[in-house]
Amino acid sequence: MKVFVKKSIEQLTSSADGEGSLKRTLGAGSLVALGIGAIIGAGLFVRTAAAAGEHAGPAVTLSFIVAAIGCAFAGLCYAEFASIIPIAGSAYTYAYATMGEIVAWIIGWALILEYALGAATVSISWSEYLNKLLGGGIPYEWCHSPMESVMINGHSVHGIANLPALLILVILSLLLIKGTQESATVNGIIVFIKVAIVLVFIAIGWQYINPANHHPYIIPANAPDVMQENGKAYSYAPFFNHGWGGIISGAGVVFFAFIGFDAVSTAAQEAKNPSRDMPIGILGSLVVCTILYILFSWVLTGVAPYTDFMKSGKEASVAFAISNYMHGYGWLSTLVTVAILAGFSSVILVMLMGQSRVFYTMSTDGLLPKVFSDLHPKFRTPYKSNMILFIFVGAFAAFVPGSVAGDLTSIGTLFAFILVCVGVILLRKTDPDLPRPFKTPLVPLVPILGMIVCAGMIVGLPSETQISALVWMILGLLIYFGYSKKHSKLGTAGDILPKAADFEKQ
Ligand code: ALA
Repeated sequence: MKVFVKKSIEQLTSSADGEGSLKRTLGAGSLVALGIGAIIGAGLFVRTAAAAGEHAGPAVTLSFIVAAIGCAFAGLCYAEFASIIPIAGSAYTYAYATMGEIVAWIIGWALILEYALGAATVSISWSEYLNKLLGGGIPYEWCHSPMESVMINGHSVHGIANLPALLILVILSLLLIKGTQESATVNGIIVFIKVAIVLVFIAIGWQYINPANHHPYIIPANAPDVMQENGKAYSYAPFFNHGWGGIISGAGVVFFAFIGFDAVSTAAQEAKNPSRDMPIGILGSLVVCTILYILFSWVLTGVAPYTDFMKSGKEASVAFAISNYMHGYGWLSTLVTVAILAGFSSVILVMLMGQSRVFYTMSTDGLLPKVFSDLHPKFRTPYKSNMILFIFVGAFAAFVPGSVAGDLTSIGTLFAFILVCVGVILLRKTDPDLPRPFKTPLVPLVPILGMIVCAGMIVGLPSETQISALVWMILGLLIYFGYSKKHSKLGTAGDILPKAADFEKQ
């Protein structure tokens, strides 16, 4: 069937090292740094508090462990693919080679949730921290979505549009259009600042841990409601808001903090020794981040009671915890805020770039209109795609709350991870003799566990998120059958796929 047409591995890899291909400059250390640069962001600095406040309490540390386990299984599968197909790709490319076009399309469509909505979520968090830096000077209406409200002097004030989030997206989209590449040095500096801030917060905050805040460690079913700033009570009674249900649900929320390790796989074409260094880059950045996240969340929930994160500590929660509970460290709060703003910017940039790269590939494959791969005559960047992307991402950033965009990002990524796990098992069956410089251990056990943990996190996410994601995927299928299938270059090229040798001649 045409919808299951596959790209051959030779077709994919033959162009990787030809003339005009990217330079192989990155070693294992730079790849780990690249991963950390893309990983640490709003997930840690914003979503940790949300997961603790809404679902897991101090046991958010366990949520991080659950999420890390899911990512480790999926990461092992990613590493196998990245070592077999070491080209600038993504889960979309892997799926095109293993499971056929329609699955590749579904992953590509899910990746829009990951990258585009991920960028929107982080820009909303950027807006929160900017407002904190400016002393809360931005009127509530202009830094929140219409779906949010707060009680001010007894009046309910609704958001209109999140303008600072739009601002950072405009700036970064223009940067991308101009082709300003973050050099390895700039990325290195941002990574250094981010990790330093996390370490400083852990070291200083440790002394301010109030053991009472860690008891009870897991939210009990009878925990009293908290009154939120919008005047509405929040209940811990539902299954996913306390106990182990809360921990699983919290894992789905903080999973956002790990998103980006797969971005390492997009740099495969620039790695000096991809078969050895890609697995180190992917798994190494995961290990470093997991350790930092567990320590960080232990300190954050020790410094401030988790219920604060449902009240005034809901936004810019780290700066909030420092200014309210770590007296004498006002300077740290400001420093953290500035560092976080810089760190968020690099995450948004990587996400927007990743999205335009996926669109670009889908468009050159004919699955999306050509406008997504039109290059700027001077800058050689997919500028039209960047502009369309800005409108789409900007609409979410301006009009949707961060938690909604963040949960949709998580669900889209989890879904892509599950399909990558399936892909490893399938490729072992269809191409058992393919050279695999890195092999996922214990196949099919590891991919199956990856699928189970990731699926568990999807189940723990709010039902509105699940329904929205389902609607999104149905829309994707309608577009596939209405447009992409008819325009697919591979699908319309005849039944005989071009051989690698033919491909090289082109
Ligand atoms: N992991 C990235 C972040 O937390 C997406 O911002």
